[in-house]
Amino acid sequence: MFDPQAVAALLTLDEKAALVAGDTVWTTAAVERLEVPALVLTDGPHGVRRLAEDADPGDLYNCRPATAFPTAAAMGSSWDTELLEEIGEALAAESRALGVDVLLGPGLNIKRTPLCGRNFEYFSEDPVLSGHLAAAWVRGLQQSGVGASLKHFAANNQETNRMRVNAEVDERTLREIYLPAFEYAVRNSAPATVMAAYNALNGVPAAQNRWLLTEVLREEWGFDGFVVSDWGAVADPAAAIPAGLDLRMPGTGDRGAAELAALVKEGTLDEADLDRAAERILRVAADLYARRTTGVPAVDHEHHRQLTRRAAAESAVLLTNEEAFLPLDASRGGGLAVLGEFARTPRFQGGGSSHVQPTRLETALEELTRAVDGRRDITFAPGFRLDSSPSPELIDEAVAAAQNADDVVVFLGLPEAAESEGFDRTCLDLPDVQLDLLRAVAAVNPRIAVVLSNGGVVVTHEIEELARSVLELWLGGQASGGAAADVLLGRAEPGGRLAETIPLALSHTPAHINFPGTPERVLYGERLYVGYRWYDKTARDVGHPFGHGLSYTTFAYTDLAVRVPDPRRNAAVVAFTLTNTGQRTGSEVAQVYVTDVEASVDRPERELKAFRKVRLAPGESRRVELSLDERDFAFWDERRRAWTVEPGTFRISAGASSRDLRLTAVVDLSVAPPELPLTLDSAVEEWINRPQARAALRRVLAAVSRPGARDFDNDETGLLLMGSMPLRRMLALGMPDVSPQALADLLAAANGGA
Ligand code: BGC
Repeated sequence: MFDPQAVAALLTLDEKAALVAGDTVWTTAAVERLEVPALVLTDGPHGVRRLAEDADPGDLYNCRPATAFPTAAAMGSSWDTELLEEIGEALAAESRALGVDVLLGPGLNIKRTPLCGRNFEYFSEDPVLSGHLAAAWVRGLQQSGVGASLKHFAANNQETNRMRVNAEVDERTLREIYLPAFEYAVRNSAPATVMAAYNALNGVPAAQNRWLLTEVLREEWGFDGFVVSDWGAVADPAAAIPAGLDLRMPGTGDRGAAELAALVKEGTLDEADLDRAAERILRVAADLYARRTTGVPAVDHEHHRQLTRRAAAESAVLLTNEEAFLPLDASRGGGLAVLGEFARTPRFQGGGSSHVQPTRLETALEELTRAVDGRRDITFAPGFRLDSSPSPELIDEAVAAAQNADDVVVFLGLPEAAESEGFDRTCLDLPDVQLDLLRAVAAVNPRIAVVLSNGGVVVTHEIEELARSVLELWLGGQASGGAAADVLLGRAEPGGRLAETIPLALSHTPAHINFPGTPERVLYGERLYVGYRWYDKTARDVGHPFGHGLSYTTFAYTDLAVRVPDPRRNAAVVAFTLTNTGQRTGSEVAQVYVTDVEASVDRPERELKAFRKVRLAPGESRRVELSLDERDFAFWDERRRAWTVEPGTFRISAGASSRDLRLTAVVDLSVAPPELPLTLDSAVEEWINRPQARAALRRVLAAVSRPGARDFDNDETGLLLMGSMPLRRMLALGMPDVSPQALADLLAAANGGA
């Protein structure tokens, strides 16, 4: 369509400024004289949120109908990269039909605390799972020419004070927990854009953070698209653009463009920085247009309806199922009490910028009624009000329905007011009125399945004591009601596994004493111990572990083999056999965790490094093979500021959750990282551990030591005492006569010189 470089060279200062400043809330500026159209960017991520033509720009909820797919909290629990790619493709078709060029998602921040009000928009507490799912979604979306935006980069893990808080996170924690999902998606799916977050990171606003936006994102990971600010995240464009920000949103028409042009004219902003940003926007636009090889395709809404219903079932996590209470038998006759307002008024998406206007909303009540088709007698009672105000009459009515029924399904969850973009939650419990309802119903009929709809986790142990089965639906999109009916009646499998630990109490959660910080700062004091890494390291019981989820069938893991294909590389191939040992077809999410058995730094007990969702018929077996590369064994070494694998033994476990490891093997890796040169600030112990350095040191010490001085490197107590001392200090304390020349010679000899 147009050659971005050629166009960039022809742009006037005002045109460049207009491009980088954005035009309207949702569009970039067109350059008509050069035939450059405006780009349309909208939310996302779970459906296309294109404002209605006549909508007031401030009215986020007046939008054109679009399929509301499951939220990321649900999709994260699917552990299904193929499914996410399919959803990405469907979103691309709807985006094209609604004239959208960039869909603002996926959200891939790590769930640091279950209180984050926006956790429904994020996949997981684990970076490997988040990264793989995000990359699949982006690939699906972008292949037909709609751009993605990885958000919110980076360390935007809370809503409280999100526009001013400074996240204080050490580099190792960033590298191992908060950045890798972005890194994986950048390297494996080439997203068109990345969205700079509102918060500051280690003292510098994310949108002005050169280390983040240029050194890490572009220079290390090879990001090739443009960086867009979160809406309103740029406070100082003269700092943001040189740091690596390319598009400031929302646009403010001529005002924003004039501001940028003036900054250039007065010398505050270098025109070359503006050139670079403008050219990146043009390059992404040209690339998206080039990928659109067909005209706007017609949207197959029926296909999307089926897809979203299947996706919701694939994301639903069966937490407990005593005596195989589920699935219910649709044809066995008898009464079925369907209780809870959410059965007829589903909670299926979260509040804020991701809110879409669904094309068609399925309710569990209607879908159960349709599926049972008169074979069971369904009675509905709402049981509670969505505003959580107490109503003894509603509870009494529900109890009466339960009393007369054979089986009871109770739909509970978080009301919309409990979680949203813009604020964080204050507790992990369901509203009291809902628990009161459940207690009252359980007192008259024990045959209860509870279906939960919530974006962030709720504590479930009391619910589990009162019900035989608990099915976590999350916010499962517009077809979550249909999916609930499918899973409850066994027409679909509960395909989900927890992408997030369910804790026993808020006070057990990793960030508890460091959340939400003050308006100015939040310290990530738990470091890398987020999610299961924390519960495992601190040996805490949990409600349900990361990775957990039951199926209607059972699986066996056998014959684990781990091999190192090339001894010159610290990489391994893990293989095991998975067998469906039950009576029904079902899918298992096989998970592989790696443990560094002995390390020079603290490391998590185990970390997810690979997974595969496998669907098997009864009796069917499949050999699953997964590759682990160097990075899967590495930690971020703060001293060398690089990924490092320490040679030695690693434990590889395969299983059905982080705490249901069925098979374990060990593997020895032997490739050592290059040694860091010794300095006078290296510890005595480090000197002594290297033979060449040790010999050189002995020579120097022999020349200056007094008769009777301790031979410290053969003296265990002396070593214990002095081992961690920087050499410089030891010499200063005991041997002040070592000359500068002797020290220089010592260093040269120790590090491989003569
Ligand atoms: C949100 C983004 C969203 C943007 C545009 C911001 O407030 O944080 O996720 O894409 O608004 O609606």
